[in-house]
Amino acid sequence: MTHTYWMDWSAEQEAEWAQAMDALIARYRSATPTAPRVGGRAHVGPMPQEGISPAAWLEQVQAHGLDHLAAMWRPDCLGHMTSPLPGFMPQLGRLLVALNQNMMKSESSAGLTRLERETVAMLHQRVFQRSARLSEPQHDQVEGVITGGGTLANLMAMWCARKQAFPGEAPWWQQLQQQGYRDAVIIGSRLMHYSFDKASELLALGSAQLLKLEVDAHGSVDLAQLDQTLAACQRERRKVMALVGVAGSTDFCSFDPLHALADRAQRVGAHFHVDAAWGGPFLFAPTMADRLSGIERADTVTLDAHKQLLTPLGCGVLLYREPQRSRDIMTTAPYAVRPDSWDAGRFTLEGSRPANVLYLHAALHLMGEQGYRSVLEKSVADARHLAALIQQHPRLELLLEPVGNVVVFRYLPSSPDWKDTAAIHAFNVRLHKRLRNLGPAFLSRSERVLPGQSGAACTFLRAVINNPLSQPQHLAQLLDDVVRCGLLLEAEVGDGQTAGRRDVVQAA
Ligand SMILES: Cc1ncc(COP(=O)(O)O)c(C=O)c1O
Repeated sequence: MTHTYWMDWSAEQEAEWAQAMDALIARYRSATPTAPRVGGRAHVGPMPQEGISPAAWLEQVQAHGLDHLAAMWRPDCLGHMTSPLPGFMPQLGRLLVALNQNMMKSESSAGLTRLERETVAMLHQRVFQRSARLSEPQHDQVEGVITGGGTLANLMAMWCARKQAFPGEAPWWQQLQQQGYRDAVIIGSRLMHYSFDKASELLALGSAQLLKLEVDAHGSVDLAQLDQTLAACQRERRKVMALVGVAGSTDFCSFDPLHALADRAQRVGAHFHVDAAWGGPFLFAPTMADRLSGIERADTVTLDAHKQLLTPLGCGVLLYREPQRSRDIMTTAPYAVRPDSWDAGRFTLEGSRPANVLYLHAALHLMGEQGYRSVLEKSVADARHLAALIQQHPRLELLLEPVGNVVVFRYLPSSPDWKDTAAIHAFNVRLHKRLRNLGPAFLSRSERVLPGQSGAACTFLRAVINNPLSQPQHLAQLLDDVVRCGLLLEAEVGDGQTAGRRDVVQAA
């Protein structure tokens, strides 16, 4: 064995290792999940002087991490925005890692740079309703890019908006003053994803420059308040850098009226960005596609393939309606991403990037529009079914009629002592934690002022119906588990004094 034995494995060694991985995957997928363990002491010792054997490493990593996985592959995992993956994905992951192409530069990715352009162009045509590609691919612009996720795509879109608002060579804040403005703002609903808070900070605007507007009872931005805000911005010399439309909000899967936003963005000369990280794929679902009407008027659109397009993580997409807008943020470097090249790295915030386009290209081709249509239509129908089951149950309260495939509800304890809002919230927090430990069904939890309401935020359980494997029995089981858990918790607290009960619940 040489000191670089870990580099040059024989075909037999690779096959043996692949078998060990297959066995692990099979073992974890068939095991009843234990509660995910996150906190506690880490078992990290000093780095070994000499490398240990693969078998010894596997043993370590199982004990210290793999044995406590979130069971994302199960049909009753309905809590988050990632889901079990199509069967062809895991082996694609192997191919991708084995070839280790770097998408930053065409020299290190060759044909895959072209594949990425073609894949993004396919989505571009669909989103912007173009019957054919705008023009032959040009080396100095792109229709869009693949990013590490929706957060990065949103950040890039806001970067592009700032470039459009302040296109000169001088620092943007000097241009702001030269244009006669006091400051610059980004406007969207209060249900905007928190990536816009990050973008606002990173673009040196600050949190006060991100204006979050009220929403109506369906979670759509309040247009009357938007008009007032735009008028106030004009009066107070605040430049509207970007207007953000949400197409599928994180908490409720609600949609903004995109045409109305596009009209206003056009009127005030603002960049119009649509965050369709969650809801974009509903373009493939006839019963939902209307909600996206107007997306084709956006300057930029975020999609997140690792959500409803069912790719592995690390696959966001930013699209430009007019590809020349990609030049706004073009950045080059002599060592790799030269101006006259075909290098994708000129147009991305990230530098080195994996060829995750393979996942997306495979999913779009192997599933096709029909495949997505059936998965998405099923998820919306399942969400409605779950909402109906919740409404029928005396201990459960549906908090919002689902617009798409996210269902929010809470458990109502039976005792009149728990009628006050804070106690119900505390109870549901406790219930969620207990549910996580009891398993195996899995839901998430959030806290928001509900659409159409004002005042205190409400704590709620959130079912994200984005699991192609889930069946009606899993939805029913999920509610049974919630109720079982709620009753257990009520019984635990017993029939002590009200104050006592609260203490127990709030101590969770
Ligand atoms: C509406 C919306 N936008 C953006 C994001 C950010 O995506 P990512 O987690 O891939 O960065 C999310 C994530 O949940 C989202 O729901």
